[in-house]
Amino acid sequence: MNVVTAVIKGRHSVRKFKSDPVDETVIHDAIKCAVHAPTAMNLQPWLIGVIRSKELLDKIADFTDHGKFIKDAPVCFAVFGERNAKYYLEDCCAATENLILGLQAYGVGSCWVAGEKKEYAEAVRKLLNVSEKYTLVALVPAGLPQDISLASKKDVKKMVFFNTCDQGQL
Ligand SMILES: Cc1cc2nc3c(=O)[nH]c(=O)nc-3n(C[C@H](O)[C@H](O)[C@H](O)COP(=O)(O)O)c2cc1C
Repeated sequence: MNVVTAVIKGRHSVRKFKSDPVDETVIHDAIKCAVHAPTAMNLQPWLIGVIRSKELLDKIADFTDHGKFIKDAPVCFAVFGERNAKYYLEDCCAATENLILGLQAYGVGSCWVAGEKKEYAEAVRKLLNVSEKYTLVALVPAGLPQDISLASKKDVKKMVFFNTCDQGQL
């Protein structure tokens, strides 16, 4: 078994966390993974917030529609992208996934909570005192998993083609 593919395939969204804090070294290493992501023209157009204040976690959770569980996470990352960078969304999504996998490598569960297209994006930015140069791309609450629900995945055969696409296969 390849250790990297095992980490990738072992990842599932976690929405119930133990109250234990996430180790500082894990947080730092996961952020290093995030900022190691590829970016268009190597702009690295991001800003990553690490939120551990209970008061801020409660407020962020209240802003969201499908992220109320942020309240009970020991930490929540907020990935912001520089609006002026043409590919900030792709860049920040790559960083978000690297962050999630960096956490998963240490057994820390997390869940990507939508940011960029949500009405609450501006409220989160203002709450965290982030310059309007940036926009929220993702929230990633994280912690040791208390409960993991396994999402079903589509059949790979129906989502992949080699060379040209055989419409009958889909
Ligand atoms: C862009 C994006 C936005 C998401 N937003 C939310 C969200 O707001 N709340 C939530 O509970 N999960 C959210 N998710 C997590 C998905 O629901 C989850 O990835 C999907 O159900 C598949 O489950 P898995 O992550 O366990 O494979 C989001 C995932 C992505 C990629």
